[in-house]
Amino acid sequence: MIPSEIIEEIKFRCDIVDVISGYVSLKRSGSGYVALCPFHSERTPSFHVVPERGFFYCFGCGAGGDVITFIRKIENLDYVGAVELLAKRAGITLPERAEPEYAKSGVKKTRIIELNREAARFFHARLLESQKALEYLKSRGLSMPTIKHFGLGYAPDSFDALQKHLLGLGYKVEELTAAFLCGLSERTGRPFDYFRDRIMFPIIDVSGDVVAFGGRSIGDAQPKYLNSSDTPAFKKSRSLFALNFARHSCSERLLLCEGYMDVIALHAAGFTNAVATLGTALTDEQARIMKRYTKEVVITYDNDEAGQRAADRAIRLLEAAGLQAKVLTVTGAKDPDEYIKKYGAAAFRRLLEGSRSKFEFKLDAILEKYKIGPDGTSDDESRIKAVSEVVALLAELPSKTECEICARRAAERLGVSAENLERDAEKKRKKAYAAERREQRRQSLRLAEGLGDRINPDKLKFRQQAAAEEAILGVLLLYPELIPDAQKLIKPDEFYTSLNRKIYAAMAEAGASFTLSALGQILSDEEMGRAVSYMAARERLTKNDLEVIASCAKTLRESRIIPGTLAGGDETPPDPGEIAKLILKRRGGK
Ligand code: UTP
Ligand code: MN
Repeated sequence: MIPSEIIEEIKFRCDIVDVISGYVSLKRSGSGYVALCPFHSERTPSFHVVPERGFFYCFGCGAGGDVITFIRKIENLDYVGAVELLAKRAGITLPERAEPEYAKSGVKKTRIIELNREAARFFHARLLESQKALEYLKSRGLSMPTIKHFGLGYAPDSFDALQKHLLGLGYKVEELTAAFLCGLSERTGRPFDYFRDRIMFPIIDVSGDVVAFGGRSIGDAQPKYLNSSDTPAFKKSRSLFALNFARHSCSERLLLCEGYMDVIALHAAGFTNAVATLGTALTDEQARIMKRYTKEVVITYDNDEAGQRAADRAIRLLEAAGLQAKVLTVTGAKDPDEYIKKYGAAAFRRLLEGSRSKFEFKLDAILEKYKIGPDGTSDDESRIKAVSEVVALLAELPSKTECEICARRAAERLGVSAENLERDAEKKRKKAYAAERREQRRQSLRLAEGLGDRINPDKLKFRQQAAAEEAILGVLLLYPELIPDAQKLIKPDEFYTSLNRKIYAAMAEAGASFTLSALGQILSDEEMGRAVSYMAARERLTKNDLEVIASCAKTLRESRIIPGTLAGGDETPPDPGEIAKLILKRRGGK
């Protein structure tokens, strides 16, 4: 198995739209893209790409999946082959051995923390005596007090300086490798210092322990930043750089940045509530941790497309964790670090006051896309398109009040009436529900006609249950952060159909960190397509939350309570229509 962290990194760097447009010619449509399907022959396009969710789906032939599935199908590769191809494209080296070293090492957490403290002291001392490293930090605008505050260090350009020091203190080679401070040479089996000729950023947890390091190359060495992998003392997906400082000044809000240097520049400029993830996209766990410390998170990512895409995703995770999310886009500089250097702390503070809500963030993106200026002048055609995208956005808002407030704001910017926007949004919402109901009817008709289902054969026997399962899975595929809560409501062995049970079991195993790519490793292409169809169906609906899951879980459970409904192995299950009748009777009887 390839570690999921690496798979996610690959998917993060290989934009699904970029990759797919290397093979087929995509046309924009709504918030996604359409094309003629490369997997079956057709004249009108039914192949869809939904970049926001990272999947493709063909309504014609049922092919679907993530970027890895696409490469696997189109290049005719197996799963690992497809991952290798994409890794190469993204410039990521896959580890020779996927099994993490530390899992077998048995080295204790406390030991690693001691070791890290020694290493941090060593790196710091080397920094103070290295003219070159100090010069570099000075050129990046860091003062001596800042360097000391963050405990920055320098790893000398040597394969054994650190290990000599630590072995001298009585630590063992297994401990150095378990702490991710040394690697073992494949050829000779000898240890080598992992960080060389790099500025070292100690990662300190909220109890003040040095749990890991990030190292920035100051020569030509790639990658630019090297980070410790997970160790018994460190889980990257749960750590935030500088939270040890930020937690003292973040009860109102936190600033979430992309990089170490952004955080350090912000703290030095007085914004001591800044934190960063450690070279990976934000995780659900990190969002939940932030929720413990603050109410609001302002996302201040890089001012490029990747940064803005990541911001979009982060909003979703933060809101799911119950946080207010805002986005601050720096203009005239590539990131907060550069911005503060160019324009100063006061300017950044003004920027911060103007950070935008999620709706405003998306509204601005639409206005920019159709080049609609502050006075609302633009040609009619683009304005109509912009209005239709704004209406789609409004239709997704959870409450009427929110819709009203946002419609008013959008109306001003677009130069149209707020009432019309609201009315159109309401219409759109109704239409989405109707479409879903039609789709359901179409499917049950097909099933009633007795057409078999090759991919999920049990579906024929358990029509209603399968529909409930598909709704649950669709919602969870869109919002994996709901998985832990869903597990409290329903267990995999309560699922009726084998394919859906298999998918749900994989989710249960992975928990909130589940991603589509986990399925890629256990499902066939056809099964993957089916799974993605659940997600594609829910994607068109506005209500996708825990309530939907709870009500479907109830449906599944109720059809089970009735005696004989889910008989043991060889009894033929009763007709689902009969079950429904029984349920109605029971309800009526009470
Ligand atoms: P950036 O390249 O934007 O970093 O990556 P930066 O902090 O602005 O770096 P400088 O200003 O060039 O020094 C953002 C973050 O992504 C991670 C690091 O955590 C970095 O801070 N990253 C970046 C890596 O883990 N590896 C890389 O090769 C590059
Ligand atoms: Mn940057």
